[in-house]
Amino acid sequence: MHRTKPHRITVCTSCRHTGETCRPGYQLIDQLRAAIAAAGDMIAEDFEVSGVACMAGCKRPCTVAYHASQKATYLFGDIEPDVDIDDLVDFARQYAVLHDGWCSSVDRPGKLRKSTLARVPASFMALEATEVLAS
Ligand code: FES
Repeated sequence: MHRTKPHRITVCTSCRHTGETCRPGYQLIDQLRAAIAAAGDMIAEDFEVSGVACMAGCKRPCTVAYHASQKATYLFGDIEPDVDIDDLVDFARQYAVLHDGWCSSVDRPGKLRKSTLARVPASFMALEATEVLAS
């Protein structure tokens, strides 16, 4: 039975290594899919890994986003396929259990503490913050 996975990791397939012509996004997708599957437990069932041509973080290749319909969205840059897979899998475990996806930089694993290009609240979080400001 096919079910839609609630979380998605999106990898830029257009990023080039700085100063080089290769585009490591497809390699990163393959490595990340394998690592997520090997991690087992709930994340193998809950995360889809896919690619997109550009996420406007082109000066910080490779870029990787975490998103879900009811959670904050993150965009990370400077991701190296051969170095950062463990941090990406650790963040998937963390992201899966955060009810709104929100966490501070000090709580993110390894390189992801310093390579966050954006953290965007889910729309319902932004709406709640607007209502608090208006009240
Ligand atoms: S080319 Fe990868 S974010 Fe633009």
